[in-house]
Amino acid sequence: MSGHHSNRDFFSSKFGVIAATAGSAIGLGNIWRFPYVAGENGGGAFLLIYLGFILIIGIPVMLSEFIIGRSAHRNVFGSFRKLAPGKPWYIIGLMGVVAAFMILSFYTAVAGWTLEYLYQSITNGFEGLTSTELQEMYYSFIGSPVRPLLWFFVFMGLTGYIIMAGVQKGIEKYSKILMPLLVVLLIILVIRSLTLPGAAGGVQFLFKPDFSKITTKTILEALGQAFFSLSIGMGTLITYGSYIQKKDRLESTAVSVAVADTLVAVLAGLAIFPAVFAFQIEPNSGEGLVYITIPNIFQQMHGGYFFSILFFVLLGVAALTSTISVLEVIVAFFVEELRIKRSAATWLATVSVSILGVMCVLSTSSMSFFRIFNFTVFDLMNFGSANIFLPLGGFFIVIFVAWFLGREQVGKELSHNSKHKSGFIPFFMFVIKFLAPVAIAFIFLQGVGLIKFS
Ligand code: PFF
Repeated sequence: MSGHHSNRDFFSSKFGVIAATAGSAIGLGNIWRFPYVAGENGGGAFLLIYLGFILIIGIPVMLSEFIIGRSAHRNVFGSFRKLAPGKPWYIIGLMGVVAAFMILSFYTAVAGWTLEYLYQSITNGFEGLTSTELQEMYYSFIGSPVRPLLWFFVFMGLTGYIIMAGVQKGIEKYSKILMPLLVVLLIILVIRSLTLPGAAGGVQFLFKPDFSKITTKTILEALGQAFFSLSIGMGTLITYGSYIQKKDRLESTAVSVAVADTLVAVLAGLAIFPAVFAFQIEPNSGEGLVYITIPNIFQQMHGGYFFSILFFVLLGVAALTSTISVLEVIVAFFVEELRIKRSAATWLATVSVSILGVMCVLSTSSMSFFRIFNFTVFDLMNFGSANIFLPLGGFFIVIFVAWFLGREQVGKELSHNSKHKSGFIPFFMFVIKFLAPVAIAFIFLQGVGLIKFS
């Protein structure tokens, strides 16, 4: 084997990098997960803490992942093995692969719901339903096994199909068109939602921080959501970073993606919460929040039929550009470490994820009795990946870059054809050496109850 990686793909342009990375970041995490997690954790204060975490932890971790991936040109496990031969850092890589399994299993289940809702939009299934009936519709859908299973497999199949085809030439192209369209559509929804009678309560809920609602669990949830939403902490961006050409700047990519991701989350909040208050739904009603609220808004809109279809198509696309990025973590790992063909690796990954995935899908129906630490499988994958695996991974990733790779290697990746060496690298080093890891460790240990401070 030679040291050249002629068989490795590269993103064709910087815009391609941003589209693919933003495609990974922007997804169900922004539109489905953010509103209900914010809703369960008090709204405004949660948002504020979340924004803080994106800035002081999210962007530094993202940049660290890019640095690792582009230095090594390997999958997440191989990257650590190559950069730190003979040292146990590869365990972070293995954790990343485990996290990818966890996320893909429950995430694809939710992505499948999007297809059901697309189907309902097309067949006019929401027509004339009241807010209560829409809630019932959601619970009866997830409460029976067959259709959610069917949609799960459809979505898993789509994800596998794209990955097998060799990734970016298709999806990279579509992301560039469809992601901006999603934003336009969200803005239309925001306007409709804000002009519903009683909308003001929702805006207040999202923007007026009530710090009495903040607990250590809220803070951990905000951290977990930041990691989840940015696709960081498990090596997705190490894998994508390994496809970035040396001429492309990493800093500006990280900042653009973080800004786009945050804007979409805030817009989703502005689409959902005014409607939640207008239709008198409980803001903390959990995973169904978006699937109940969005059809409700469309019921109140001229052209709701049309927009509803468009919305669920785009939500599906947003989810798909995220699921492929997670599957790519596993497939790149299988291809490079097991030395098997991409097609075989894709099959192996898709089938093995599906076993866990089926358990997630059935968590709201036939398997709802099955609990681990009192969590259903779905809840365990959802809560455990975002709030435990990703922060833990992020912690070790920044530590690795700061204390093991070191400033020189960081400088090599960041100041490539750079004009602004100035204060940035020392500042970044300070953040990843001290600020980010200390903050993550502190929040994590508090959140899981291992330390008690204050
Ligand atoms: N960031 C995606 C979202 O917000 O929907 C979810 C995700 C994708 C998480 C890829 C983690 C990941 F590696």
